[in-house]
Amino acid sequence: MLGCTQCSLSKGRTRVVPGEGPENAEVMFIGEAPGQNEDRQGRPFVGAAGQFLEELIGLAGLQRKDVYICNIIKCRPPGNRDPLPAEIQACSSWLDQQIRLVQPKTIVTLGRFSMARWFPGQSISRIHGQPAQHGDVTVYPMYHPAAALHQAALKETIQNDMRALGRLLHGTPEPVEAAPAPPPAAPQRAPRVTQPVAPSVPTSSVGVASSASSAPTTEQPQQLSFF
Ligand code: URA
Repeated sequence: MLGCTQCSLSKGRTRVVPGEGPENAEVMFIGEAPGQNEDRQGRPFVGAAGQFLEELIGLAGLQRKDVYICNIIKCRPPGNRDPLPAEIQACSSWLDQQIRLVQPKTIVTLGRFSMARWFPGQSISRIHGQPAQHGDVTVYPMYHPAAALHQAALKETIQNDMRALGRLLHGTPEPVEAAPAPPPAAPQRAPRVTQPVAPSVPTSSVGVASSASSAPTTEQPQQLSFF
């Protein structure tokens, strides 16, 4: 991939930005295209949108180090323009390979370009936050984090979609409407003999290690940062 010349973006790039994350990541985030910072560093989502993405990943109960992050195209378009259909097509076999190698259970599309691969012709404003099953993979469409940086009104929508993703991944039930408060109970007489209170057992938090990865292992998964 690093020497790819399958489209003209190869002429203007500083570095190819393949993607990064554990080879066995259960969740893969797919953005749009590298920007200026990514082009310089060769890593995805390292600018302002990346900072916000990390915060969002936290809202889903995950950490950046545990998920795989890449883009629909691997080289920066000039002036950060939208990717062209021919560029997306030329780059698609790289993304195919990444999905085949990582085998994520859940793919989160960030923005309309990666969304269109699984939901052609759909509108992001209609389907964001609605997971769909594609074979073995759940695909979860979301607005691009940069959209919230440009339109403040979208920030809460994106945050809520990310929280809902967390519930989907960790199996936490959707919050229910609070029931009306019960009437106050009649005062109770204190018991004459009190029993010792059993020490409380700390409950383990539902986190990445327990829910997003398989059996615990002492070996660190290999980081795939490609090819
Ligand atoms: N950085 C990326 O790597 N991808 C985007 O889509 C935006 C910023």
